[in-house]
Amino acid sequence: MFIRFLTLIFLLTFCAADAATITISCDSTGIEGQLCKRHAQDWAKARGHEVRFFSPPSSPTEKLALYRQLFAARSADIDVIVIDAVWPGVIRDHLIDLRPFSKGQEREHFPAIIANNTVNERLLAMPWYVDAGLLFYRKDMLERYKLSVPKTWDELERTAQYVQKAERERGNSDFHGFVFQAKAYEGLSCNALEWIASFGGGQIVETDGRISIHNPAAEQALSMAARWIGTIAPRGVLNYAEEEARGVFQSGKALFMRNWPYAWALAQQSDSPIRDRIGVALLPQSANGRHAAALGGWQLGISRYSTHPALAADLVMYLSSAAIQKERAIKGSFNPTRPQLYQDEDILSNNRFMAELGLVFAEAVSRPAAQTGLKYPQVSQAFWDTTHAVLSGKTDAPSALKKLDAKLKQIKRRSW
Ligand code: GLC
Repeated sequence: MFIRFLTLIFLLTFCAADAATITISCDSTGIEGQLCKRHAQDWAKARGHEVRFFSPPSSPTEKLALYRQLFAARSADIDVIVIDAVWPGVIRDHLIDLRPFSKGQEREHFPAIIANNTVNERLLAMPWYVDAGLLFYRKDMLERYKLSVPKTWDELERTAQYVQKAERERGNSDFHGFVFQAKAYEGLSCNALEWIASFGGGQIVETDGRISIHNPAAEQALSMAARWIGTIAPRGVLNYAEEEARGVFQSGKALFMRNWPYAWALAQQSDSPIRDRIGVALLPQSANGRHAAALGGWQLGISRYSTHPALAADLVMYLSSAAIQKERAIKGSFNPTRPQLYQDEDILSNNRFMAELGLVFAEAVSRPAAQTGLKYPQVSQAFWDTTHAVLSGKTDAPSALKKLDAKLKQIKRRSW
């Protein structure tokens, strides 16, 4: 009897101490949501724990605002947080150092991403997937009009104009030349940085902390994009994030789209009207500039307020492992952060662009997050607000960039 009693006490104590619930902030939409949930559930089942899902808003700007509120309240509601490439410096005080848990696994990822995720020698997040801006095009339409994939913005503009006109004349009345992300949010900072960097206009704030945005190349780049609105791009792009642009492109209503790699897997799904009719290329360059893709991507970090940091770290290591990154690459075209996976035949045969555009990550331009640290969200917001005002025709690029320069100096004050 006594032994039975002891066994019962042991079981109760053991089970209570052992089974935990880990909450992860998975996006809820599309393939991304399904994969994140399934993989986290597989982990929970294998380890005998529970996972709970927290669905954040889809905009990265709103996500960050929400996490900052939770951090301010020292909330233990979320253990594992999916983190944008530009956040480590911003939320550095609210994430734990993962090195005690990683067993050196960080050495298997691209060193540049690990450097991005390391602040004051603390590894704040494990890389999950890497993003770079790409040009998606309708292969079949370029063939129909015997046109080639544009290498410069001028070519893109001419080709878009030509095909848009010809398609509308054929009765495709709501067909557009080019769609991209021009809503006032983080995604517009990525698009506008690409235009400006491709003209040789720098990266807003340079790596040495110097504010460089007020320059003739940047003016030219923004004036060019303003010219697209209502001509080759619908006025609606002023309110498009990634998914709105993809919706138009995937329903067959646009020739070109700027987007991230995830759009490939969705456009290639069996029910997609443009399946097997698309190609992916580097974003165009200016006549004497270069191809510039914004560098993005998402990481997995752990809240400092988590009550189960070691278990949460175990989940993070599982989700960032080679096997899971491989499945995410094949099913969702999420670019792995592990160089070795770029030699994997299964991945490459599903995503030809990953092999063909290998260089895109090497040459990608970073947003000025590392150099502006905690102030990055203010810098980015000032930049996207300015760009949005120019694109909407409320102001012109030269005067808007002069004002932005003054605003950034105010944000910087004595130092970043
Ligand atoms: C993508 C990128 C991310 C960027 C966001 C902007 O998700 O990976 O880095 O901030 O787009 O919308």
